[in-house]
Amino acid sequence: MIQSGESVVTAKKEADYVLGTNDEELDRLGLQHRVWRPTVLECWRRAGITFGSRVIDVGAGPGYATVDLAELVGPTGEVFAMERSARFLEFAKKACAARGLTNVRFREADLMKESLGELEYDAAWCRWVASFVSSPEKLIDEIVGALRLGGVAIFHEYIDYRTWRLAPRRPAVESFVEEVMASWRATGGEPDAALNFPMLFRAAGLRIVEANPRVLTVSPRDYAWQWPASFIEINLVRLQELGRVDADWAEAVRREFREAESDPMTLLNTPMFLEIIARRE
Ligand SMILES: C[S@@+](CC[C@H](N)C(=O)[O-])C[C@H]1O[C@@H](n2cnc3c(N)ncnc32)[C@H](O)[C@@H]1O
Repeated sequence: MIQSGESVVTAKKEADYVLGTNDEELDRLGLQHRVWRPTVLECWRRAGITFGSRVIDVGAGPGYATVDLAELVGPTGEVFAMERSARFLEFAKKACAARGLTNVRFREADLMKESLGELEYDAAWCRWVASFVSSPEKLIDEIVGALRLGGVAIFHEYIDYRTWRLAPRRPAVESFVEEVMASWRATGGEPDAALNFPMLFRAAGLRIVEANPRVLTVSPRDYAWQWPASFIEINLVRLQELGRVDADWAEAVRREFREAESDPMTLLNTPMFLEIIARRE
């Protein structure tokens, strides 16, 4: 099949993203949003996002948070959703259209190559993006540059990915977590991206207002169990696609996780991320 120059670039961009942009990943991001939605809404409230706010959704993905933000800020507010994946952005546009939301602006852009511009927005929301970019420094500089003075940057970004463990311990699942971290690093990312935030914030002129660790301990019966469970299922396939692991290795992880899941006494700690609210000074 012959593809136009533009569609070759789009296909490469989608394939390059370490987690992929297929339907399964799209659904998984929805589940992930539902698990963390109460925490997110409460965080946005404390950060001052309200009716009439102008908010940027940085690396918006399929727009699950975009929709919530657009409903929250209402018709006098505005949401600017920027995202690298054309596929995810298309899904976000349809989700907003289906809800009759007309206060969302979309932009397909790679933040490592392009600029957000000086937008004077009230707030920026950035979740699970910093681990996947080659320069978190540029990411933060772009966010700060797009805020008005006094505007807030809100992040949910991993700070200690290895907290993802089972009790009792399961060695194959622990090596899966190590492999996931290695795969992000191999594509220029850093799983524990938030460890560098204090230094980057100082350089960019952001003052931390609040920083809270977010980690859950769940059992197989909890709804939140489905978050890591779905990640394992989808990412085992992705790691094989990337040529990092073979089918036997993947099956051993799957088998061990199913064993853990069948024991109602099992506990699972989720990968820890940091919730940060910081103000542009
Ligand atoms: C794990 S997803 C999170 C999506 C969304 N923030 C959420 O919480 O559902 C990471 C997102 O970052 C986007 N992304 C990664 N690198 C990017 C870049 N350089 N510029 C813009 N978006 C990027 C990916 O395409 C993907 O949609």
